[in-house]
Amino acid sequence: MRSLTIRSIAAVGAAALLTLGTACSNHREGSTAGSDGKGFAKDALIGVALPAKTSENWVLAGDLFTNGLKKAGFKGDVQYAGASTTVADQQAQISSMVTKGAKVIVIGATDASQLSTQVSQAKQAGATVIAYDRLITNTKDVDYYVAFDNFKVGQLQGQALIDGMKAKKPKGPWTIELFSGSPDDNNSKVFFDGAMEVLKPLIDKGDIVVGSKQTNIKQTATQGWKAENAQQRMDSLLTSAYGGKKTLDGVLSPNDTLARAILTSVKGAGKPIPVVTGQDSEVESVKSIMAGEQYSTINKDTRKLVAETLKMVQSLQKGDKPAINDTKSYNNGAKVVPSYLLPPVIVTKENAAQAYANDPTLSALTK
Ligand code: BGC
Repeated sequence: MRSLTIRSIAAVGAAALLTLGTACSNHREGSTAGSDGKGFAKDALIGVALPAKTSENWVLAGDLFTNGLKKAGFKGDVQYAGASTTVADQQAQISSMVTKGAKVIVIGATDASQLSTQVSQAKQAGATVIAYDRLITNTKDVDYYVAFDNFKVGQLQGQALIDGMKAKKPKGPWTIELFSGSPDDNNSKVFFDGAMEVLKPLIDKGDIVVGSKQTNIKQTATQGWKAENAQQRMDSLLTSAYGGKKTLDGVLSPNDTLARAILTSVKGAGKPIPVVTGQDSEVESVKSIMAGEQYSTINKDTRKLVAETLKMVQSLQKGDKPAINDTKSYNNGAKVVPSYLLPPVIVTKENAAQAYANDPTLSALTK
């Protein structure tokens, strides 16, 4: 799949844009219920279509949407795509939400490029479409995007990899391997591009060496974000490029599930533990960070992301324009999607206690 998110370096200054806070802009067209400024009933049906449970954040999001929609007085229809027939599942779930008359459909896309028919149906039926966490590509029928700044996530991962390796071994060259997420998730390329923006100058200078020479996103991809695929690739890289005493200094991993799979592979091969990045602040990874194994993760507080999405739904219900803070960064190939972006936070052992201070489950792990 061709990823269509176009990020200019200037546009990456999302932090600056975030300070705009509640700046509004209406990029919607047409006169449909909910998106025509007229609002809809307080107890309307709101659909939430999430991908398969490939990481803890999706499980948490589903629970938060179910409870949050109920508390706000809406009828919620929260669905997950199944583990194997993910695309077809999600397409059917969205179509069913449209048929049932959902006024807003929130979508965490399982495959960014395979939902244009369903979101077009949604728009024709008068629903507002919000892309949640993952952008939907090649369609004008996405009204809003709410996410953590994914390019920034990649930049933070790239920088953490460098910092972690320098802390262990002050002088390079450092030997690394690169992993990226599932090719059907638009975020995968954005994370990878963000990380490579930081890593590539050092690779070009020879300060960082990719042991396998696999630097292309196609070579580094992890189909379905599945741990077993990352573990298999790491096993085969270790066999092909790390024979004898050759060791690895670091691995760019796009999320925690894959980071733990990579660590399992390296440990299984009897190699010293490299600096491994991650994302999502999953419980097992936070434990691993505190135990000095995984080096870093990213805190993207799902509670905040769901809360922002629910705020959008409530604004639409009242007939108001939802708050957005970015109109430049996320071009889905058909239009720049008005977005509300939240800032991700890098977490290592050093700042974990502070980073998770407001999260009772995770902060307990840092004590
Ligand atoms: C999310 C990540 C997650 C990955 C796999 C991405 O789209 O942004 O937080 O780790 O999907 O579930």
